[in-house]
Amino acid sequence: MSEHHLLELRGVQKSFGAVHALQGVDFHADSGSVMALVGDNGAGKTVLTKCVAGIYQIDAGEILWDGERKHISGPKDAAGLGIEVVYQDLALCDNLDVVQNMYLGRETRSSLRRLDEAKMEKEALGTLDDLSVTTIQSVRQQVAGLSGGQRQSIAVAKAVLWNSKLVILDEPTAALGVAQTRQVLDLTKRLAEQGLGVILISHNMNDVFEVADYITVLRLGQNVAEFKRTETTQREVVEAITAGTLSDVPGMQDEEEAVR
Ligand SMILES: Nc1ncnc2c1ncn2[C@@H]1O[C@H](COP(=O)(O)OP(=O)(O)OP(=O)(O)O)[C@@H](O)[C@H]1O
Ligand SMILES: [Mg+2]
Repeated sequence: MSEHHLLELRGVQKSFGAVHALQGVDFHADSGSVMALVGDNGAGKTVLTKCVAGIYQIDAGEILWDGERKHISGPKDAAGLGIEVVYQDLALCDNLDVVQNMYLGRETRSSLRRLDEAKMEKEALGTLDDLSVTTIQSVRQQVAGLSGGQRQSIAVAKAVLWNSKLVILDEPTAALGVAQTRQVLDLTKRLAEQGLGVILISHNMNDVFEVADYITVLRLGQNVAEFKRTETTQREVVEAITAGTLSDVPGMQDEEEAVR
């Protein structure tokens, strides 16, 4: 691991009027590993994401990228650094096909007027292939006809195609079935294996424990704990999320199973 974190937040604060969504948050994500960001509803996970993505401006604190302090004042700044956020369902245009979605706003032109469709199609296919996304039958089909998991895979592949260094997945499996969840979790692991930094936001402890290397717990706008996945249990993480008021949640695995 390099001496700097890929992304580091120090003492980040963000308020909306009287709502103190982030109250001095320290957080980090690193290349080649998955950081899970967990916490109850309203803990500040999405606000943190949007601050990193340039959608919100932080009120105080600092954001470091590869050890350098950066001002991320809009989505273009974030994209320029190589930060890509995948939001459930919002990431794609229904009426465009897979290739068009992956190149949206960045279309390759071979001559001045004509889009280089063949080149774009080849690169899109190559990227999906690299990520072992095999269930999409044609990259010329409209994404409206794809399943939730397939759409999620396309959104992730788009991030990879554009050489992102950090991919943030905000509850990517919340609305997915078993097989589709499998697909997205495998993809999440593969991103980290390819050397990208990944931040996974999820309420599902089984998903978190399957793919995360590290787990940060936010509670009421503060980071309250960081765990190494191999050195903690689902029970311990749930207790940190709920300030000790709960020690298990529906669907949670037995403690022995959770320790791997
Ligand atoms: N644009 C906004 N204006 C005012 N308050 C906001 C805004 N965005 C978020 N908040 C508040 O900030 C707090 C953190 O919200 P956030 O969306 O980050 O929670 P979350 O951890 O993502 O929760 P969930 O798990 O439900 O998605 C909440 O109290 C929320 O009401
Ligand atoms: Mg959220």
